[in-house]
Order: sequence, then structure tokens, then C-alpha cells
Amino acid sequence: MRRLALAGITVLAACAGDPGGDSGFCSDVPIVTYETFGKGFMTQNCQTCHASTQTDREGATDGVYFDTADEVWAHKVTILDRAASDEPDMPPLGGTTEDDRYLLKVWLTCGVEGQ
Ligand code: HEC
Repeated sequence: MRRLALAGITVLAACAGDPGGDSGFCSDVPIVTYETFGKGFMTQNCQTCHASTQTDREGATDGVYFDTADEVWAHKVTILDRAASDEPDMPPLGGTTEDDRYLLKVWLTCGVEGQ
């Protein structure tokens, strides 16, 4: 958790022109936020089952909603594991592109918590 938070700060510093960026995953990635990517991605790929307002959740875990940026961030570890890995099992029938999974990983690994 702490390492991820620090990595997020590093990428912001690097994007602001700080010459001291490290060579980790977050040092050379686009800026990805809920507004620019996350909201659309979650709505399109996840909320059909996970939205709190969905009446037929198809068995999606009770209480696991992705209605807001904060709710997504609260589940970031499991989301990264299940939807952004090389062998994702969310959505259950697949359908996300490699590019989208990369952006999802950048967002929740390098982005600012809650944004
Ligand atoms: C077709 C319905 C459906 C879609 C679409 C879907 N899910 Fe799920 N999701 C489920 C079901 C059913 C479960 C509970 C069973 C399981 O954990 O495999 C679940 C469980 C999860 C869990 C585990 C929750 C926990 O803490 O136990 C996560 C994380 C998750 N989904 C993330 C996602 C993400 C991210 C997306 C979009 C990329 C997504 N899901 C799309 C049906 C769906």
C-alpha cells in the first residue's frame, strides 16, 4: 500500500518535470484518472453486474459496487488482481482489451488515490 502511494507521488513529480524520476513501472506512463478513463471503463465493463443500482447483479459480490472513484479505489487490490492481470477473470466472460487492462493497471497503480 505504502509503496503504491509513493509510486503515485513519483509519477506526478516526474510529469511536473522533476529530473529524479525512478525507473519503475510508474516512471513512464500516461496520466490516467477516473474522469479520463476509469469511469467509462467501469461503466462499460463492470457496472452491468456491479452497480449498486443493478437489480440483476448476476451474482456479483454483495457490497462490491464501482459507482464512484472511491469505491473503485477501495477495491483496487482485488480489481488489479482480477481485471488487470495477464489472465483476467473479470468480467467473467472477458472482453476487455489489452490496452484497457494496461490503462486500468496504470490508473490504480500510479494514479492518485480517489481520483
Ligand atoms: C457478468 C457479470 C459481471 C461483470 C460484467 C463483472 N463482474 Fe466482477 N463479479 C461478478 C461475480 C458473479 C462475482 C462473484 C464471484 C467471483 O468472485 O468470481 C464478482 C466478483 C468480483 C470481484 C471480487 C469481489 C470480492 O471482494 O469478493 C471483483 C474485484 C470484481 N468482481 C471486479 C470486477 C471488475 C473490475 C469488472 C470489470 C472489469 C467486473 N468485475 C465485471 C460478476 C461480474
